[in-house]
Order: sequence, then structure tokens, then C-alpha cells
Amino acid sequence: MNKIQFVIVGVGRIGTKYSKIIGENPNAELIAAVDIDFGKRKSISKLVPFFTDISDFLAANIKADIICVCTPNGLHARHTIMFLHAGFHVICEKPIALHVADGYKMLAAEKASGKKVFAVMQNRYSPVSIWLKKLIDDKKLGKILFIQINCFWNRSQQYYTEAPWRATLELGGGPLFTQFSHFIDLMIWLTGQPEHIVAQSFNLNHQIKTEFNDSGTLTFNLENGGTGTFNYTNATFDRNLESSLTIIATKGNIKVGGQYMEKLEYVNLEKSTQIPVFDNVTTANDYQFYQGSLDKHDEFLANVIHCLQHNLAPEVGLKDGIKIVHFIEEALAAAEYKNY
Ligand SMILES: NC(=O)c1ccc[n+]([C@@H]2O[C@H](COP(=O)([O-])OP(=O)(O)OC[C@H]3O[C@@H](n4cnc5c(N)ncnc54)[C@H](O)[C@@H]3O)[C@@H](O)[C@H]2O)c1
Repeated sequence: MNKIQFVIVGVGRIGTKYSKIIGENPNAELIAAVDIDFGKRKSISKLVPFFTDISDFLAANIKADIICVCTPNGLHARHTIMFLHAGFHVICEKPIALHVADGYKMLAAEKASGKKVFAVMQNRYSPVSIWLKKLIDDKKLGKILFIQINCFWNRSQQYYTEAPWRATLELGGGPLFTQFSHFIDLMIWLTGQPEHIVAQSFNLNHQIKTEFNDSGTLTFNLENGGTGTFNYTNATFDRNLESSLTIIATKGNIKVGGQYMEKLEYVNLEKSTQIPVFDNVTTANDYQFYQGSLDKHDEFLANVIHCLQHNLAPEVGLKDGIKIVHFIEEALAAAEYKNY
């Protein structure tokens, strides 16, 4: 089969990761890159045409299969629509957009173009997540009564100074979009779309300059009638502390923990089920002075290639991405802002 030809747009932290994993995959080939910062060409390990403007890349008429949109959050919608119109498939980094209305515009562009948009939610490839999803789908947990998600991470001033867009509402959007959309996706994937969100938003670390608060608490109803809470902060001391999910259900209790929901910490089920051991199987994306989410982009990329080679629909697409944006948009609109 022919190699899938990729272009990376936005060669920053995650764009550099794409350069590496495309280079390592025998079915993938990087054929061009775009970044407004010419200095970023050094981050691409292979010598390929490098453009500092998307319109110059489009004018060059390079025949690629798929564009990896790795630009700041607030540009994803515009860039994805632009590349769909130009006849490319798109990998759209998370979050797919900062506004639900933009998500629907992307969906319309995808439909009109006949191309595919792959939304990146690599945490779904975590072995614990896969096991938990099957457990719930097989009804082994019964009815979910209560879930609690805690996302307690650290983001330093250096993180925002390195890329100032991350601190803005217009391009970054805040921690629910930039850090915790992965865990919102897992929650929705496992338990459906939450409703009736009650939210508080507050700032714990006043030393760090951003246009948004670093922390919040959300409570909501689950789609099946249960209830849930989601507590988050970017203000833990020194480094990420945890991302955990506790489920209390009629046929069992489960706690998934670790820094990225990669560890099964507690299981008690009505019917004994073989409980797999998840031992050191997953690590985080390491960006030197901070850690990101799970290092599973290689599996994600392999799946994208498989879908393109066999003309399959994306496993995670725009509709899934819109559900996440919908939840965050509602949570932000509902938030009562507290000053501490
Ligand atoms: N899935 C994950 O785990 C994961 C991890 C990290 C980042 N991300 C997402 O990837 C995106 C990028 O994040 P990052 O941390 O790599 O940011 P970054 O600032 O390191 O990189 C963004 C790059 O985009 C470039 N850029 C900005 N505007 C551009 C434009 N108009 N055209 C071309 N290039 C442009 C910048 O010069 C920069 O090099 C964000 O949306 C982020 O949420 C996802």
C-alpha cells in the first residue's frame, strides 16, 4: 500500500512529536511543514519544503493526503475548514474548537468536502480506558450512580511564557480546553453527555498571569440519571499530582488513578471478572519542564493511517469533539466566579 503523505501545520511542542512519529511509521511520510516561525524548521528531523504561511503552502499545490493541525486551540476551526476546502483530510489536535458554533461549521465543511477529520483523543488508547469502556458497555458495572473526576495538574509561568497564546482566552481558552479536555472526553465516552452543570471557577496561583482562572469545580447530572463531580486545577505544587476517576455503580466500584488515569487503583465487582494488571504500560508526553497527557500519539497515528488506507470513518471525529466543547462551553457559562 502507498504511504500516507502528511503535512504538519504548527511545529511547536506537539507538532515536533508528529514529526518524530511520522518518521518512525513505515506507512507514513512527511512531505511538508508550515509554521509562522521560520526557526521551527529546525524541529523537523527531515528536510522537507517549509512554509511560513498556509496560503503559500496551498499555492505550492503539494499533493498530500492529510494535514496535522497543531496550531493554537483558537485557530483549529479556521485551519481545519481551510484544509478541508482545499481537499485534504485533517488531523485536528485537541480541542477541535473553542466554540460549539465553530464545531458545527467544521462538521458542515467536512460533509461538503467528502474528506475526514480525525480528532485527537489519544487517552482513549490507554489500556485501562479500553478495559473500562468494555466493562461499562458489557453492563458489568450496572447503573452508574456517581462519578468523581479529579484533575490536579501544574502549569508554571514558564509554560505560558514559552507560548503566550496558552494564557489567552481567544487562543487558549483555559485549563478545561488545554489540559483537561482529554478527561472530559473519557467521561463522555464512558458515561454520556452530562447535563445541568453547576460550576464554580476560581484562581489559586496568583503568581501566574493568564486571562482565565486556573481551577474550578463542576457538578452535573449524568445522562443515565446518576450524578457527577469534576474538580480541576493547574495550581498543584511543582508538578502534576493526579487525574483520577472514581465510579460508584450498582454492581461495583472502580477507581482509576495515576497522573493520567493510566492506573487501575481499585476494583470491586459483583461478578468476579478477570482483572488485568496494568503495569507501567503507559507514560506521559514529556516536554522537559512539564508533562502533558498520555504518550499514545503513535497508536493514534497508526489508526489514522489504517482508516485512510481502508476508507474507514475516524474512531474519534468532530461529533465527539463537539460534545467536549459543548460541555466546557456550558460549564464556563454556568460558572460562578469566586475570588480567593
Ligand atoms: N493531544 C495532546 O496531548 C496535546 C499535547 C500538546 C498540545 N496539544 C495541542 O496542540 C496544539 C499546539 O500546542 P503546543 O503546545 O504544541 O503549542 P506550541 O505553541 O508549542 O506550538 C504551536 C505552533 O503553531 C505555530 N503557529 C501559530 N499560528 C500559526 C499559523 N497561523 N500558521 C502556522 N503555524 C502557526 C506557532 O508558531 C507554534 O510553533 C494546541 O491546540 C494544544 O492544545 C495536544
